[in-house]
Amino acid sequence: MPRSERVRVFAPATLSNLGPGFDVLGLALERPGDYVTAEWSDSPGVEIAEVRGDADQLPLDPASNVVGIAATAVLQAYDSRASEPRPPGVRLWLDKRMPLASGLGSSAASSVGGALAVVELLGAAFDHEELIACALEGERAVSGSVHADNVAPCVVGGILLIRSYNPLELLSLPVPDRLWIAVVHPHTAVATAEARRLVAERRFEISQAVANLGQLGAMVTALHRSDLALLGRSISDALVEPIRAPLVPGFVNVKQAALKAGALGCSLSGSGPSVFAFAESHSQAEDLAGHIAVRFQEVAGLESDSYTGKVNMRGACRVSEE
Ligand code: HSE
Repeated sequence: MPRSERVRVFAPATLSNLGPGFDVLGLALERPGDYVTAEWSDSPGVEIAEVRGDADQLPLDPASNVVGIAATAVLQAYDSRASEPRPPGVRLWLDKRMPLASGLGSSAASSVGGALAVVELLGAAFDHEELIACALEGERAVSGSVHADNVAPCVVGGILLIRSYNPLELLSLPVPDRLWIAVVHPHTAVATAEARRLVAERRFEISQAVANLGQLGAMVTALHRSDLALLGRSISDALVEPIRAPLVPGFVNVKQAALKAGALGCSLSGSGPSVFAFAESHSQAEDLAGHIAVRFQEVAGLESDSYTGKVNMRGACRVSEE
């Protein structure tokens, strides 16, 4: 790949856990997502020129912003390979087109965007694992621990199972054609680090682990069979969802309403507060998104944004400049 002067990339939002798969299951959405623009600079290191969008609280210090941390990790990895000399520095623009602390992998999208933008600028050959490793440096900085179930599907696209973290081994799962997704983001925030601390402090019964193992196996089977009914039934989490539900006002009521309205399955996305539901058609996904949004308003007084779409099979990619 030739080196570029200026590039722009898109990194999609992701759903993680998918019910029973805490830290091991995730999928890429078509939208929303972040855009990152990068160009070479004569100043050494990484500079964040601007953060646009609904994110003015994010720092411009590249050591404190995931987009800068991931971009720096790519430059360091490139330099450690005795590669061709490169210009001294990189200037970045982060265009946040998705909510922060939403459970939709906002920090993962910015991390992947920063890493991919620099890879594209360099014209370097980074495989998925290398790109994920650099982006995870950003994710580690905000969540306090490494979890790849947002970063990996953001990079690769599709639905992913993380078979192992050390070494990282990813399995792409089949995606049923008829699968549609409704995602609703109620206007409240859950800090991932805090939500992870709640889980880490807890001790679990073996019966809870058994329940999740069964559901996780069923989910993988359902994806291989394109069995949407089984897929929906397997969105069930005895471990984490009960601990985190109280962080999202109205969640239990909202989930009941989504299932009553015909959702195949429904759960928190990642650490929440966003909620997702699986559907068999676009119109059903739209209908469910509407039901969920209305319910959040009725039971918790929360406004929401919603998105419907299919699984994004491409993952993060270079796009043309606007
Ligand atoms: N698997 C992670 C968690 C995702 O649930 O904490 C966080 O977005």
